[in-house]
Amino acid sequence: MPTKLDLSAGDVMPLTQSEFEQIRQLAYKTFGLDLKQGKEELVSARLRRLARAGGHRSFQDYYRSIVADRTGESLLAMIDALATNHTAFLREPDHFEFLRAQVLPLLTARDGIDLWSAACSTGEEVWTLAMVLNEALAGRRVRIAASDISNKALAFAQAARYPRERCQGIPPQWLSRYFTPAPPPSTDYVVVPALRAQATFRRINLLESCSWARPFPVIFCRNVMIYFDRDTQQKVVARLAEHLEPGGYLFVGHAESLTRVEHKLEYIRPAVYRKPGSEGRWNKSW
Ligand SMILES: C[S@@+](CC[C@H](N)C(=O)[O-])C[C@H]1O[C@@H](n2cnc3c(N)ncnc32)[C@H](O)[C@@H]1O
Repeated sequence: MPTKLDLSAGDVMPLTQSEFEQIRQLAYKTFGLDLKQGKEELVSARLRRLARAGGHRSFQDYYRSIVADRTGESLLAMIDALATNHTAFLREPDHFEFLRAQVLPLLTARDGIDLWSAACSTGEEVWTLAMVLNEALAGRRVRIAASDISNKALAFAQAARYPRERCQGIPPQWLSRYFTPAPPPSTDYVVVPALRAQATFRRINLLESCSWARPFPVIFCRNVMIYFDRDTQQKVVARLAEHLEPGGYLFVGHAESLTRVEHKLEYIRPAVYRKPGSEGRWNKSW
């Protein structure tokens, strides 16, 4: 029999098909991730370290420990390991241009703007939105509600500190206006406090209902639904639409066309949808 010492020093046995199936179902049920057949290697590579760190010899033991963990911490760690956090400043730039040129001019009667970045990952989308809004609405109130399922990603987003390489796409004048260099020898950049004060972060699982004080004129929910199946996408879009004002805009990722999904939004242009029913009231303050 292997001892506890052997276990922590030893490796986890290869992932079997039935273990993959258990993990697949757990990921689907808890956060909507649609792990297709063929993703076994990815699952094994991403979860092996967690299984080993917990002293488990098999993925079966690891799975049981997640299910038995009443704190939910092990599940969160599994979600963190399986979720793809890839993002970038000014990702899919035509969205920001459309927001600036077509949407913000419709909101001039308001004192400011509140928008929601759902599934914001490590924050690049949040700070891009903040920069675009501050440039366009100088002096007006900007509030960004930012959410993700991953506490780790949210902590990173909130720290608002990025390695130089990740800031390369930011126009130099924005970099100097909205970031300060971290103290040397670090070459990181940190978002300025004035911008950070405009964002609030909250853990939200898009599969679960959540409440906001008021609906948003704009919601960004990009590059997360691509990991969901059609059924889940449909539920998530319906839920996001509930949190949009009539006339409000939903931005999804360019790879996430909603053509296969039933919804009540109007198609405006690729990856941009609008909730009908504003009846000319949209440019009023709420
Ligand atoms: C690829 S990133 C997208 C980041 C950003 N929106 C963008 O387009 O660059 C996907 C994010 O979705 C989050 N996510 C995955 N499933 C989720 C769920 N059920 N609810 C909320 N966020 C989720 C992940 O934690 C990850 O940070």
